[in-house]
Amino acid sequence: MAESVVHILNGPNLNLLGEREPAIYGATTMSEIEAQCSKKATDLGLKAVFKQTNSEGGLVDLIQAARVDAAGVIINPAAYTHTSIAIADALQAVNGPIIEVHLSNVHARETFRRMSYVSPVANGVICGVGALGYQLALDAIAHLINNAR
Ligand code: DQA
Repeated sequence: MAESVVHILNGPNLNLLGEREPAIYGATTMSEIEAQCSKKATDLGLKAVFKQTNSEGGLVDLIQAARVDAAGVIINPAAYTHTSIAIADALQAVNGPIIEVHLSNVHARETFRRMSYVSPVANGVICGVGALGYQLALDAIAHLINNAR
């Protein structure tokens, strides 16, 4: 069987990881997270497609593109988590499991970060463990994909 493809999608300002508020988001850069995900995906028998965009419509386009070949989606929608019905709607149309990831513990920060439009359409949510969250999300999505067969 061909390896399952997992799309790992990232929203605005995550391209600045490593420089942006490292006390909150950590020192690991987006390209380091991408490399970690690529290796972890290979270990799990998956193929990771890793993308980042700063625009809401761009993130909707990436979610729609995932419909073509993704067996599952991992998404850190960043600030759009708390604002975007369009992103939640796009995710509703995705086939396969969805894991929402946040580097920071959004529940321990400003009140507006506690609300997520994405969580109700996700299979699971991982937050507060930094870059490790992406690795845990890959474990979770591999489990969900394998158990759906
Ligand atoms: C974030 C949390 C969001 O509230 C914030 O807007 C981000 C990053 C995180 O990964 O912790 O940009 O999604």
